[in-house]
Amino acid sequence: MRIIVATTNKKKFKEMQRILEREGIKAVFPEERIEVEERGNSFLENACIKAEAYYEYFNTPVIADDSGLVVDALDGYPGIYSSRFYSLEFGGKEKLIGSPDVVNVKKLLKLLKGQKNRKARFVAVVFFRGKEAGVFASAECEGIILEEPRGDKGFGYDPVFQPLGFDKSMAELEPWEKDSISHRGKALKKLSLLLKSCGKLL
Ligand code: IMP
Repeated sequence: MRIIVATTNKKKFKEMQRILEREGIKAVFPEERIEVEERGNSFLENACIKAEAYYEYFNTPVIADDSGLVVDALDGYPGIYSSRFYSLEFGGKEKLIGSPDVVNVKKLLKLLKGQKNRKARFVAVVFFRGKEAGVFASAECEGIILEEPRGDKGFGYDPVFQPLGFDKSMAELEPWEKDSISHRGKALKKLSLLLKSCGKLL
């Protein structure tokens, strides 16, 4: 099974490819960059919008992931705005000096300075679009936001996210460890089970 991953984010792709490979699914990076406006109001809507746009363009089965970090003390922000949190009016815009990941983390830590409630969760919705229909699965990974970044694996908010039951940040976990507990790992495993049980969708 060969599926295009509807993303421009190489680090997210690598992670998805690694997880899907274990499920017997060959994931490929899109040959062309497709700009998709994520105009939805939820992870599910955005995952569906991305999957549809890529399917329409490539006419090949696709999987899209829409994911983000939901922080309790910030009323659920950055949420669906996680990839461009630095540029939001919420909490004040940050200048993009360095990569978006670094500036997003900087803004998050600034907003949570002195905050006792550090509870947060990663959320992922993965959406498969095939010839006949689409199916989706979702999962979460609970944890807390650390005071300082730790580790250099993973991407995005991984260095400041400590999953429940661990004393390491997500960026200090080995890739297989992250995949076994992460929102994306769990959602893709559920999706793969769904695909195996309804193969004719492909
Ligand atoms: P999307 O590509 O629009 O779904 O944006 C997802 C954003 O959420 C990423 O750019 C990261 O900022 C954040 N994010 C999602 N999943 C993870 C993860 O596994 N680790 C760290 N950050 C993540």
